Parts: sequence; C-alpha cells; structure tokens
Amino acid sequence: MQNKFISFEGCDGSGKTTQVKKLVEYLHSLKQETIITREPGGCKEAEDIRHMLVTGDPEKWHSKTELLLMNASRHEHVKRTIVPALTDKKWVLCDRFYDSSLVYQGIAGSLDFTEAEYICKFASDNLEPDITILIDISAEVGLQRSNRATNKENRFEKKGIDYHNKVRNGYLQLAKTYSHRFITINGEQSQEDVFKDLLQALKDKDIV
Ligand code: TYD
Repeated sequence: MQNKFISFEGCDGSGKTTQVKKLVEYLHSLKQETIITREPGGCKEAEDIRHMLVTGDPEKWHSKTELLLMNASRHEHVKRTIVPALTDKKWVLCDRFYDSSLVYQGIAGSLDFTEAEYICKFASDNLEPDITILIDISAEVGLQRSNRATNKENRFEKKGIDYHNKVRNGYLQLAKTYSHRFITINGEQSQEDVFKDLLQALKDKDIV
C-alpha cells in the first residue's frame, strides 16, 4: 500500500471532520502510519494565522487579503507538517486544503480564478492532493448542522446563505474540472453510510 495525501472538502457542517476520523481508524487498522491535519492551521505558525481568519466580523478582510492569509498559513503547513510526513511515508489526511481557497475566496469571494489558483499553487510549492474527497451537502443543511452558534470560530458561517450557496456550487464545479482527483460523496445520509460510500470509492480506485 502506498501512502497518499488525501484532502477532505465540503461546505461548513458537511461532516468532513467525522469522516477524516473514520478513515484514520481504518488506515490504522491496516497498520498504516497516518497523520490528521487541518487548514487553516496544522502547525503552530499556521494556527496563529487561523485565529485571525476564523474569528470576528465576516467582512473584516477583503477577499484578496483572506486569500493571502489562507495561503501564508498554507505555506507554513506544507513545509512544516505535510511534506515531512509524506517524506516519512505517512498518509496525510487533511481537513481542507487549497480547494477551500479556490471556492471560498476565489469563487464565492469573486476573485479572478486563474490568479487565485496561481497563488494557491505558489503557496503549496505545487503540491496537489492525490485524492480530494468532497462531502457534498446543500448550504442550507450545512448551516443548520453547523453547531457553532456559540463558538467564536464562526466568522465564515456568518457570511450568509448566498455566499454558502456559491461555495457549494463552486465545489461541484471543481469536482468536474479536477475529476482525476475528486471523489464526490452524498453527505446528506448517515455518517455510517457516508463512510461506506467513501471507502468503496477509495477501494474502486485502488487507493486502500
Ligand atoms: P474549518 O475549521 O475547517 O471549518 P469547518 O469545520 O466548517 O470545516 O475552517 C474554517 C473556515 O475557513 C471554514 O468556514 C472554511 C474557511 N476556509 C476558507 O475560506 N478558505 C480556505 O482556504 C480554508 C482552508 C478554509
């Protein structure tokens, strides 16, 4: 079995984090060394930047500033966490990666897509996930599920339904454009059924 870099994507409230945990358990049961990490964040330096991004007024940054901060944190994360783990032949399961920036800042934030993509690739030293698992749910269901009304890290949830509809449609668009690495799973079913579909899709592609 070959270690892989797998990113998980989806609207807020899509249940990605639960699926990341289920997949790491599965890989550990196969004795595969695996790390879980997340963006924005994933190392001390990037977590410091995360705090500025996920708290406070939803309009406090312009989309370009948001894109640059996300990618500043990403560069630290790639250099300090992801690349060393891949070099050590570990699996890397990443809760969000640059597709989040392409969708939230690029598409929903109305930036030029080609420019946004260039910046994401620059920040990642051209490291692309081997597989991207999109847990697809409607923006309405996601925002209802998102239980962070009392959490301070809710700056993006506060951006409203129109923004989140653009995020969902943006993801579906990316899944078509990058069909070589995207796996789209229906997230509007039980967590067990989502995982069953996800695992089957990975087996079909001979990943696990
Ligand atoms: P996260 O903590 O992963 O939230 P969730 O649990 O909903 O997945 O991410 C925080 C927010 O940051 C989330 O609303 C999406 C947003 N985000 C971007 O806008 N661009 C990015 O590049 C990343 C990585 C996240």
